[in-house]
Amino acid sequence: MLKTAFSRRALPLLQRRWTSQTTQQPFPPDINEWSHPPSNATISDEEIYRLAAKPRRPLTLADLVRHGKPPLRDAALLDSANFTLSLLPARLAHRIQALRNLPFIVVANPHVSKIYNNYLHSLSTLEPFYKKPIETIEEEMKFTDVMADLVRTHSNTIPTLAQGFLQCRKYIEPAEVTTFLDQHLRARIGTRLVAEQHLALHMASTGDAATQPPDSHHVGVIDLALRPADIVRQCEGFVGEVCELKYGVRPSLVINGEVDAEFAHIPMHLEYIITELLKNAMRATIESGKEGEPIEVTIASAPDVTTTKLDSLKKLSVTEANAFDFSQEGLDEYCSSPDADIGPLNAAAPCITLRIRDRGGGIPPEALANIWSYSFTTFNKDEVDEASDDTGGSAGLNAISHSGTDQSSIAGLGYGLPLGRAYAEYFGGAIAVQSMYGWGTDVYLTLQGIGKMEETKKAKTGFEKLQAENGNE
Ligand SMILES: Nc1ncnc2c1ncn2[C@@H]1O[C@H](COP(=O)(O)OP(=O)(O)O)[C@@H](O)[C@H]1O
Ligand SMILES: [Mg+2]
Repeated sequence: MLKTAFSRRALPLLQRRWTSQTTQQPFPPDINEWSHPPSNATISDEEIYRLAAKPRRPLTLADLVRHGKPPLRDAALLDSANFTLSLLPARLAHRIQALRNLPFIVVANPHVSKIYNNYLHSLSTLEPFYKKPIETIEEEMKFTDVMADLVRTHSNTIPTLAQGFLQCRKYIEPAEVTTFLDQHLRARIGTRLVAEQHLALHMASTGDAATQPPDSHHVGVIDLALRPADIVRQCEGFVGEVCELKYGVRPSLVINGEVDAEFAHIPMHLEYIITELLKNAMRATIESGKEGEPIEVTIASAPDVTTTKLDSLKKLSVTEANAFDFSQEGLDEYCSSPDADIGPLNAAAPCITLRIRDRGGGIPPEALANIWSYSFTTFNKDEVDEASDDTGGSAGLNAISHSGTDQSSIAGLGYGLPLGRAYAEYFGGAIAVQSMYGWGTDVYLTLQGIGKMEETKKAKTGFEKLQAENGNE
């Protein structure tokens, strides 16, 4: 029913796109034309256009620790809020613009449209804040509520978009979907990170947390002494349970190499990537009947030789492939500004490589070319096909919506490798897959840490004041 209606209207709708070349009328005059159901967002088209045209500056791990270790004093917390605000509006507007660049029939899909409306909503909620700097803690509190809303609103984006694009696959080329999703999901990594970092810094600096002994290992979402071996064990436990539920067995896993290595990184990114890689390795191991063969994870740590700030930044954040999320032109200017004078980049940043080796038979040559495409999977094709049809069975639908949120299915979305690579590359890392067809697969994950954080001179925090009052200074 739905399909018939769509195919009758397909041609004119397919041809309709907003194109960036149109300068006189940047967007269709009515914002609701692109929004189903109509959004109640208050942001104007002109404002979206203005913000989307602004350069987006690169984001580095060093940026995330620039305000110092929490608990932060008020001035640093306000700095963090204003820094967050200096990044988000242009990024959200740019995503709205990218969604509008899709064929109209794709944006009109209820799932894609929901994501589009989420962006309009979030940008509207930011509008009252970015017009002037945040100067009081009361304003900062309200802003933090908006950040919490932003993170919540966009939490289900991946399964929603996955379903939307599956339903639209007749109307858009797979290559265009992959390009859009790759850009969109990479940009989303940065946007979420910036919002989550401010939230985490706020939580660690206000209320009870301000009077507790500071946690010397964490700066918001960054763990300064992250042990990859611990994350591997944690993910092994989770993925092992998923395997037991699905197959009734769980392969064992050995860790060797530099098992005590540690570096500064974002635990939730590492968890995401390793969970996806272990799911692939365990699924292949079990499905090829080799559950007796342990998966082997080898950890290597190498000091990275840091040269200049410009080199580090380029290495950390911009490659030709991911330059869309950053302003490549703005990079030199940024690096020579006082803004770029960030301590951690002066120190050597250790680089961690993990090799995940399985005996699961490798990847068939005909599949190898597609493993980096979003939605490519060799898992349960029937369920995936059903999920693409709203009138179809709910089993496939559930498989799709669950695999993106709680990661509780072993495979099926076809997002594990491409999204894992997006996370790894975001801060200058990489993933490489080496398949030995007939034997097994090696996956190399390299991640770049940040160097030692320089202690910033700062006013006393609540905890330090308490210590001084008690004579423990
Ligand atoms: N370790 C591995 N061994 C064998 N095949 C693999 C391995 N890792 C990935 N693959 C292949 O790549 C495909 C895509 O992987 P992924 O992007 O994680 O999506 P999904 O796991 O949902 O299928 C898998 O369906 C599988 O065919
Ligand atoms: Mg997978």
